[in-house]
Amino acid sequence: MTTTAQPVRTAVLEASGIEKSYRHGLRHRQNVLRGADITLLPGEVVGLVGENGSGKSTLMKILVGALRPDAGTVSIAGRLGYCPQEPVYYERLTCDEHFELFGRAYRMSQEAERRSRRELYAALGFERYASTRADQLSGGTLAKLNLGLALLADPEVLLLDEPYAGFDWDTYLRFWDLVARRREQGRSVLIISHFVADEERFDRIVHLRDGRT
Ligand SMILES: Nc1ncnc2c1ncn2[C@@H]1O[C@H](COP(=O)(O)OP(=O)(O)OP(=O)(O)O)[C@@H](O)[C@H]1O
Ligand SMILES: [Mg+2]
Repeated sequence: MTTTAQPVRTAVLEASGIEKSYRHGLRHRQNVLRGADITLLPGEVVGLVGENGSGKSTLMKILVGALRPDAGTVSIAGRLGYCPQEPVYYERLTCDEHFELFGRAYRMSQEAERRSRRELYAALGFERYASTRADQLSGGTLAKLNLGLALLADPEVLLLDEPYAGFDWDTYLRFWDLVARRREQGRSVLIISHFVADEERFDRIVHLRDGRT
């Protein structure tokens, strides 16, 4: 028997034993997550699948720290980008103003923010909406803006909750080009997806069932 030495790659995201229940009224408690584990290695593109209501978004909210788990641990190495299932935006701000605001929050230099913004407009094809207010954007363009904001600071770990649900075919293909480039750069991406047809685009698929992965 021969063994080949595998280079040791340290996980950029590691979550274990995640439990979460929601309370419905006084008596009823719904156990959504019952000890879910998930690991992301550098340069890995992982799909998180499971039926509606299986707890995928709940798990992702816990991973980004937006929701506190009842039990379990999460550790993340490096910068984090997150794109929620429902776009979050400021109605009165234009796309450009969103990028400026997020660039400041990420403490990016003005030059770095502008460069990244230009690349994202080109990669996702929505430059012509740069000066449009968010409340006047279509659902698909809002989804592009949210994805762009998650990518602005070039995060090591990118978590996307059904990012391409509202994308047209051309944007869908651009999206996967962008993900492939991140993989080449050693960046990691976790994507919640429903389409089994996408299976070959992932390095690994994690199934969430009965609260466990
Ligand atoms: N804030 C909340 N309060 C109470 N129950 C909730 C809350 N958020 C989610 N749930 C319940 O927890 C379960 C899991 O919801 P979650 O949104 O995590 O599922 P999902 O796998 O992302 O589903 P989908 O594929 O429809 O997006 C569902 O039964 C949902 O009704
Ligand atoms: Mg969901």
